[in-house]
Amino acid sequence: MNDRLQKKYRFAEKKAADYLTSLSGQLTNKIYATTLTKDITTWKQNHIRQYSLYSRGKGKSNPRGYFGYIQWLEFTGKLDNYLERSISYIFLRDLGKSLRSPHTQNRIRHVVANLKKHLPLSATIGNGGKAEAFSMAGLYRWAQKEGVESTMIWLLNKLKSVSANIPEGMNAEEAKRKLMKIIAGVILHQIEEMGDVVLDEERTRKLDEAMRLGYSYGLTYPFIDDLLDSDVLSEEEKKRYSSLIRTTLVTGSVPELEPWTNKNKELIHYIHSELRQAFAYIQDHLRQETKDNFFEQSYVFFHSQEVDREKDLSNASYSNEELYIPVILKSASSRLIVRSVLSAEEDDGFDTRTFFYGIYNQLADDFADMFDDLEAGAVTPYTYYMKYHQTRPDLINPFELYWTVISNLIHNVYHSDPKTCEVMLNRAINGLKRFKERMGDKKYNDVMELFATGNSKFDQLIQKMVRKADDVEFFDKLLRDHIIANMKEEEKEREAFLDAVTTVRGQINDALHIHENDDASIWEDPIIDAANYSLQGDGKRIRPIITWIMGVHEYGLDTSAIVPLLKSLEYMHTASLIFDDLPSQDNSSFRRGRPTLHHIYNTAVAELTGLYLTQKAVQEQASLDQFDPKAVLRLIQYSAGKTADMCKGQVMDLNSKGKPLTLEQLNTMCFYKTGIAFEASLVMPAILAGKQEEELEALKSFAYHAGIAFQIKDDLLDVESDLATLGKPAGKDLENNNSTFVSILGIDGARKAMWDHYCTAMETLQQMQHKTTYLKHLLLYIINRDN
Ligand code: IPE
Ligand code: IPE
Ligand code: MG
Ligand code: MG
Ligand code: MG
Repeated sequence: MNDRLQKKYRFAEKKAADYLTSLSGQLTNKIYATTLTKDITTWKQNHIRQYSLYSRGKGKSNPRGYFGYIQWLEFTGKLDNYLERSISYIFLRDLGKSLRSPHTQNRIRHVVANLKKHLPLSATIGNGGKAEAFSMAGLYRWAQKEGVESTMIWLLNKLKSVSANIPEGMNAEEAKRKLMKIIAGVILHQIEEMGDVVLDEERTRKLDEAMRLGYSYGLTYPFIDDLLDSDVLSEEEKKRYSSLIRTTLVTGSVPELEPWTNKNKELIHYIHSELRQAFAYIQDHLRQETKDNFFEQSYVFFHSQEVDREKDLSNASYSNEELYIPVILKSASSRLIVRSVLSAEEDDGFDTRTFFYGIYNQLADDFADMFDDLEAGAVTPYTYYMKYHQTRPDLINPFELYWTVISNLIHNVYHSDPKTCEVMLNRAINGLKRFKERMGDKKYNDVMELFATGNSKFDQLIQKMVRKADDVEFFDKLLRDHIIANMKEEEKEREAFLDAVTTVRGQINDALHIHENDDASIWEDPIIDAANYSLQGDGKRIRPIITWIMGVHEYGLDTSAIVPLLKSLEYMHTASLIFDDLPSQDNSSFRRGRPTLHHIYNTAVAELTGLYLTQKAVQEQASLDQFDPKAVLRLIQYSAGKTADMCKGQVMDLNSKGKPLTLEQLNTMCFYKTGIAFEASLVMPAILAGKQEEELEALKSFAYHAGIAFQIKDDLLDVESDLATLGKPAGKDLENNNSTFVSILGIDGARKAMWDHYCTAMETLQQMQHKTTYLKHLLLYIINRDN
């Protein structure tokens, strides 16, 4: 084992031991209680009101959800205070700042003002057509503003693959959320480090680096700590994996993977390759001094976690030092790493503050999780105390230590700064309130009895604050709850959406087949066979699926009544593919996983089948006999016009070969050749449902962006995928010298354009009247699809 790192660890251990000694001194002589009692007496002036006009009474502190709560804060005039408190806390905890500094105070004001612009305040109806700040579209819009779109696309794809690769037995959503939080922390750090003065180009470069470093470092959470905490790996695998990580931290890069024969081979291969790239990136991008620091802190972090992990709740003889020193070390080092990840300026105050701060958070988190930890048999200061406090009077009461840490931080680390005192007490009381709410009064009281400090006046004061104090909420908690709820909700929606897609696709496939007429003609009738051949291929049926989503799911039309419309859309689309593949157009030999129609028959039959199918489409439309005839006529008129327009689109496409189209021309061409069919799929059911012009306009603008995004994805797949995945040949566009988003803007440019259309489509959804969850998932499907 590497001597240098072991020495560092022992040094850190010594520092942690001294810290613990100082804390236990303050705990034994109860200084903390006297001091905090004074602090709380002053603090409560601003938090306990005799009569509150807007009192929310008892019960849940936040029954309104994210949007409602923010608007309520605004309405009651509490918003500024709330944000100020929340951002101050982030500066204290995540950025390791001292709130006394006028510069920091300025920055906090600045961030608050900025944040306010992104909140769903009452004046901005439907969010003003802006994407919600913390959604994917919101993130991409931020990236555009900062010029880091490519990095954001890279990152979003990375996150997607991480959560797809998280094995059962670990929580994929939680992993993603944690990773995003780490990355956000690194970005925030970078932004604060830069201030406002940095030139645009330099700022972009630094943000790009922060995002990549954040990801690289953030990966260690799901793929090292959480993985080793879980039961995914066998004991033997864990040993091997742990030693691989240790070697990584000692040597600075991930070693080759020796053959891994155990059950988690695939997972380990994926993780190994991701971590390898991540560490290579870190190696390449950190300055030597910060690099050493990074690996030292990471080693301390990893080793202290291991020490902690190996503890056994059935061992009755751990000393206080054994219990607390690893806790101090892991919580401090995890925060120190974030700073060392960036080549930040030396800041001695930062290191000291952060070192002392860590355990405060750890004790707060472990408090909140004590019952889960107990169930999992994990040793934390709380679970250990719960189990052994009666037989081990020497054990430190972690809850009492928690208050000692707070008092020590306020007065010894932050020099009795009133602002710090205010924020920390808010946070502490809020933590207890949240715990009480989650656990219920009974369990909460039991916990409080168990962890009572023995100083009944102090204990009573705390309980009184938990009952009566107000204005102690924090934005990061609200946001966290909101994001978790959102992720859960979106996952549910996504599953429902995919289920619906599968079901409807099955129904459409069953209905598409064209039957021979009973009075079969005296001639053989290859055209029906030809049409069925093209229809039977492996098509996605996305257009009729959209129509079903709108018609049945959104407007409540009768499923069987709109079947003719579903068929007509797929007939028309299939016809357009038959034409598109002809030698006179794209000259393609494969479609929907089988040879193209003109290869099976000949060009003439293919052309006539295309024509035949467009006419069958009109015939189907004209048989929509369960709807208002006027609406049906309107639909047919609309549809015929749009089919004519699509022909124009194909001509634009063919005439643009090798030409340097402008972005506007590209958009127009793609809208005409592809977007129109999406528009029709959305608008036709709206016509049948008797929707007004306003609604149709909203659908059209959604379709415009969704349709173009679909075509850009098609252009990208043409260069990035293959015949087996696509069911049609890749590389066709290059072969034909077609002008596409990729040929004009390059792969990166095409991706950006696709994301931009995605965001605009999402923003148009924000402004629509009815619920549009399926359309949201349709968009995601469009940009994430593999074929
Ligand atoms: C292909 O459409 C033609 C384009 C507009 C890019 P689809 O990708 O929907 O093709 P199928 O219906 O699934 O075969
Ligand atoms: C086709 O665009 C648009 C149509 C409406 C047929 P492409 O020519 O890119 O479609 P694929 O790639 O052949 O499916
Ligand atoms: Mg084409
Ligand atoms: Mg084509
Ligand atoms: Mg194509």
